[in-house]
Amino acid sequence: MDFLSRRTVRKYKDKPVEKEVIMELMKTALVAPSGRNRRPYEYVVVDDKELLQKLSVSKDGGAGFMADAPLAIVIFVHDTPTCLDDGAIASTVIQLKAHELGLGSCWIQTMGKANSEGRSTEEVIKELLNVPAELKLHNMISLGYPDEEKPAYTENDVDMAKLHFNKF
Ligand SMILES: Cc1cc2nc3c(=O)[nH]c(=O)nc-3n(C[C@H](O)[C@H](O)[C@H](O)COP(=O)(O)O)c2cc1C
Repeated sequence: MDFLSRRTVRKYKDKPVEKEVIMELMKTALVAPSGRNRRPYEYVVVDDKELLQKLSVSKDGGAGFMADAPLAIVIFVHDTPTCLDDGAIASTVIQLKAHELGLGSCWIQTMGKANSEGRSTEEVIKELLNVPAELKLHNMISLGYPDEEKPAYTENDVDMAKLHFNKF
């Protein structure tokens, strides 16, 4: 897979993501690496338009485009010592696999966020999706077939000054 061509996509074609494609994506997500292989993640796949609209306003800014996305994956984690790492890795795996499948995606940060009325994003989303209280909301990802083109990263974007061998 060409990782340099993966870019965040926030505009999607008005075309549903096929069930087989969703299952292919989620199979990969369900074996994403995790500390001690605990796999503390739980995923809620959302394709219901009304729910997508409500998710799009569950935080005050930065998620509005989700209302027009055909699909979202909301990532929750059980409370384990590595659950924050595991949730982030799972999300990255989802974004990379989505790219391989020809889908565009955008990570939407939700931790510590609130909606425009000041209500916790986590509380709003857990209520909306009927999620058990003991789970933590990690983040959400909007997905769909891209309706915008972004250039792939090139050598010019690669900052070699951040790369260190043996010693800083
Ligand atoms: C931890 C994290 C949080 C992000 N949160 C948001 C967000 O809330 N809303 C949004 O539109 N994009 C969000 N993004 C997408 C970034 O803006 C995007 O990845 C970044 O600008 C780099 O662009 P690229 O993915 O095309 O390389 C987030 C990305 C990461 C990794």
